[in-house]
Amino acid sequence: MTRLKDKTALITGAARGIGLAFAQAYAKEGARVALGDIDITRARESAAAIGDAAIAVEMDVTDQASIDSAVGETVDQLGHIDILINNAAIFTAAPIVEIDRADYDRAFAINVSGTLFTMQAVAKHMIARGQGGKIINMASQAGRRGEPLVAVYCATKAAIISLTQSAGLNLIEHGINVNAISPGVVDGEHWDGVDAFFAKYENKAPGQKKREVGESVPFGRMGVAEDLTGMAIFLATDEARYIVAQTYNVDGGQWMS
Ligand SMILES: NC(=O)c1ccc[n+]([C@@H]2O[C@H](COP(=O)([O-])OP(=O)(O)OC[C@H]3O[C@@H](n4cnc5c(N)ncnc54)[C@H](O)[C@@H]3O)[C@@H](O)[C@H]2O)c1
Repeated sequence: MTRLKDKTALITGAARGIGLAFAQAYAKEGARVALGDIDITRARESAAAIGDAAIAVEMDVTDQASIDSAVGETVDQLGHIDILINNAAIFTAAPIVEIDRADYDRAFAINVSGTLFTMQAVAKHMIARGQGGKIINMASQAGRRGEPLVAVYCATKAAIISLTQSAGLNLIEHGINVNAISPGVVDGEHWDGVDAFFAKYENKAPGQKKREVGESVPFGRMGVAEDLTGMAIFLATDEARYIVAQTYNVDGGQWMS
C-alpha cells in the first residue's frame, strides 16, 4: 500500500513498542521514517530490520540540543519532515504520599516538555518549508481521568490532550494538523513495567494485572501495538486534513468522550 508514498516521518521513542509499530506501518505505506530514541543501539537494530526506508536518530527529548540535532539530522538524511509522532514517554506510579519529586520531574520532562519542544522544533521546520504537515501526539486513557496510584502519569497525559488542543488551534493556520491518539492498555514491554508496579502495590501475582485489564476491555483483550497503526496512518494522510486539535480513543471501547 502507498498511502504515505513520498512522505517522511520522525517518530520519537520508536526503538520498540508502539513507536516501532508505527515506523513499520509507515514504511509499509511508502514513507521514509526516522526512529528517534534515547536507546540508539536498539533504534539502530529496529531501523535495520525495517530496511532502507528507515534510519535511526539518537534523541533525548528532555534535552533541547538533542531535539534540535535529531530534527536537523532527520532533515539532512530524509530531506524534510512531513509527519511527526511524539511517542516517547515513560510510565510512573506511586500512591500520592510516596510520589518522589525527581520521578515527577523526569516524567514531566519526557512526556510533556519532550512532546512540546519536539513539536515546536518540527513545527518551525514545517512552517519554514511552507507545505504544512501532520503532528500526532500520544495521549492515553490515563489522561482522561485520574487513577488512585497513577497521579503523575495521568497528569502528563492530560497535559498532552490539552497541548494538542492549543497547538492544533495555533498551527492549523500553517496547514499543520495536530491531533492525538489515546490508547487504552497495549501489551508490550511498557505494560510489563506497569504489571510489575501493580504486583507490588496491589499485592498481585506477576501477570495478574495484565489478565484483569485485558478482561475489562469491552473488545475482550488488551490491545497490541498494531491495533493503533490504522489511526496513525489515517491521521497522517490528506484524508485527515479537516481534523484539528482532536484526541481519538483507540482502546477497544474503554473510554467514550
Ligand atoms: N502501552 C500502553 O498500554 C500505552 C497506553 C496508553 C498510552 N501509551 C503511550 O504510547 C506511547 C508508546 O508506549 P509504549 O508502550 O510503546 O512504550 P515503551 O516504553 O515500550 O517505549 C517507549 C520508548 O521511548 C523511549 N524513550 C524513553 N525516554 C526517552 C527520551 N528521553 N528520549 C527519547 N526516547 C525516549 C524508550 O527508549 C522506548 O523506546 C507512550 O507515549 C505511552 O505513554 C501506551
